[in-house]
Amino acid sequence: MEDLFKELDCLKASIDEAMEAAVSGYRCDVPLIREAMAYSTEGGKRLRGAIVLSTYKSLGGNGDAMPFALAIEMIQAYSLVHDDLPCMDDADMRRGRPACHKKFGEAMGVLAGDALLTLAFETACTSDLPPYRVVEGIRALAYGAGAAGMVGGQVLDLQPEMSNDRIDEATPADPAGQSDPAERVRLMYRLKTGRLFETAARLGAILAGAPDKIVRRAGDAGMSFGVAFQILDDIEDASQGGTEDQKATLPATISLEKAREEAIMGLQRCQELCRQFAGPDYLLGRLAAHYLVSKLG
Ligand code: IPE
Ligand code: IPE
Ligand code: MG
Ligand code: MG
Ligand code: MG
Repeated sequence: MEDLFKELDCLKASIDEAMEAAVSGYRCDVPLIREAMAYSTEGGKRLRGAIVLSTYKSLGGNGDAMPFALAIEMIQAYSLVHDDLPCMDDADMRRGRPACHKKFGEAMGVLAGDALLTLAFETACTSDLPPYRVVEGIRALAYGAGAAGMVGGQVLDLQPEMSNDRIDEATPADPAGQSDPAERVRLMYRLKTGRLFETAARLGAILAGAPDKIVRRAGDAGMSFGVAFQILDDIEDASQGGTEDQKATLPATISLEKAREEAIMGLQRCQELCRQFAGPDYLLGRLAAHYLVSKLG
């Protein structure tokens, strides 16, 4: 485990340094927005960026995947800034300090999120990897972040399930087309959290030039990890009386014990897939093993 922590620390340090250079060094005539962007990109664990870099290396990449690690972390930061807004989770704190909108105001929270989302794509475009891989990576990033991914999941998270009296011909019974509450929550987890982890692993594979089959396996491993990650987050939030308390979460829907079992199964599946396509040293598989022991052991 110590090796895993060292590796994660090292990847985090390199992402932190590159992030600081990319955001604080960003040339724009409005220092205030740059300040809000820098504030919001500080302090994350950088798991998604670390997965991009380590997947890329494990699959034989020998160039620089950092622009994509930064891009996914910018998207992660933007998603959290918006997630904390009063119209969403209405959370005051993020990464151990006041949320972006608490420090800079609500409108700046919206705009800092917008600016980080767009900077993510500008940054990905600076990659000097083969252009066809960069384009494929940018497409994967857009897919994972958008309506088919994180944004779609956030919609499901916020949308109260429609009650029967609101059903008419033009209104589906449920915006996710899911009537089973547990299945609906699982879909929400896959989209809002699974998709970005899936994207991180896929990006590493795409940029390394891995065959489609490996890109898919890497994505599956990332998805399994991400869904388990969200289950664990909801279990932790619930135990701390957090905002997710009043929401439809898996532990609240199928019981804490059953949700724990699903997280265990997801992490085991992630580990197994990782071993198959990248061997035992691959960071994501070891991260899944670590979560199994430290959070669910
Ligand atoms: C927080 O993700 C949002 C969830 C999916 C639960 P992280 O815990 O990875 O957040 P940071 O980026 O490290 O702050
Ligand atoms: C966040 O889920 C997932 C995102 C897509 C941002 P949560 O709302 O559970 O994340 P926290 O608990 O605020 O970090
Ligand atoms: Mg939320
Ligand atoms: Mg939240
Ligand atoms: Mg949460």
